[in-house]
Amino acid sequence: MQQIVRAGHRRSSRWPTTCGLASAIVPAMTSSTLEADRTIPMTRAPAVSLRAVTKRYGERTAVDDLTIDVPCGVVAGFVGPNGAGKTTTMAMLLGLVRPTAGTGSVLGESLGDPAAYLQRVGALIEGPAFYPGLTAAQNLAVLATAAGHDRAEIPQLLDLVGLGARQHDRFGSYSFGMKQRLGIAGALLGDPRLLILDEPINGLDAAGVHEMRGLIGSLASARRTVLVSSHVLAELEHVCDWLIVIDGGRLAYQGPVAELLGRAGTTLVVAPEHPGDLSLLSAVIASAGHEGRAGGGHVELAVDGADPRALAADVNRAASAGGIVLAELRLVGRSLEDRYLTMVNGGDR
Ligand SMILES: Nc1ncnc2c1ncn2[C@@H]1O[C@H](COP(=O)(O)OP(=O)(O)OP(=O)(O)O)[C@@H](O)[C@H]1O
Ligand SMILES: [Mg+2]
Repeated sequence: MQQIVRAGHRRSSRWPTTCGLASAIVPAMTSSTLEADRTIPMTRAPAVSLRAVTKRYGERTAVDDLTIDVPCGVVAGFVGPNGAGKTTTMAMLLGLVRPTAGTGSVLGESLGDPAAYLQRVGALIEGPAFYPGLTAAQNLAVLATAAGHDRAEIPQLLDLVGLGARQHDRFGSYSFGMKQRLGIAGALLGDPRLLILDEPINGLDAAGVHEMRGLIGSLASARRTVLVSSHVLAELEHVCDWLIVIDGGRLAYQGPVAELLGRAGTTLVVAPEHPGDLSLLSAVIASAGHEGRAGGGHVELAVDGADPRALAADVNRAASAGGIVLAELRLVGRSLEDRYLTMVNGGDR
């Protein structure tokens, strides 16, 4: 499936033209790519809300009883392994796929009535499709005309996605990253309130990933919410305010990125100078009242809310009293990726 779903120019009078400010907020994430004042509004109606949404294809359940909320004005990462159900979920939000069960709303309108909100939604699903013989500017003009958008916004959009200098080159001559960025420009026509991007970073080189992250981070505002998918958490963790993780069609996590990182946990790694002392070290740590797991020449202890320095000192004392010289005593923070990998065990089903 290759398509760009374009935002239209008609605005619904039942939905405010901005997401507005929240009365209860979660502080913005620390990423330098985020706008300093972006916050997560928790009390306004979410931009996207799904309740127990399921999509079955015959015997196969692509999306399974999924309940999610995407707060207004955030960059929300939608992460899960291949086959987790990301594209299917996004296609349901865009009215391209009909849910088997469940309800939901997008920009305040029922999921069952996509025509009521699609004019305010821009999307890029599985890569852009443009005419190779036309320039970037001409391609956007075709899209704008078809959707009834003001063509005057095109030069500004091309500048925004970093294609201003190449706008008169043929699409067919563009690099993969440039094509992706033009796809985002196309999805931004009509100034949508919700932008849905399916794997926009997939296949880009390191510099392209960096640029695309910066672009995505700049697209959310008080007026606009961005829902962006990836099967690689590391691609999105620095640009997202909000994270939704799915696996096997089911929700594994949703909430602020920082909260997931906070749950990732820290481990104390303790290694004796002489590998032969490992079981003795395990025993003295246990007799000091701590639970450790021996293996790979060291003992690992979960810090689990304890004072890490006090724990390290206690273990060091116990080892010393047991006549064991330590060669290693270090705290290791688990990365968000580690946490993610323990949550998902999916992959293609
Ligand atoms: N039209 C369809 N007919 C039958 N099965 C489908 C269809 N579309 C998706 N599926 C199945 O639904 C599951 C979820 O697919 P989906 O494309 O939503 O996953 P995804 O998370 O987007 O994966 P990827 O990271 O590979 O893009 C997969 O098992 C897929 O084979
Ligand atoms: Mg997909």
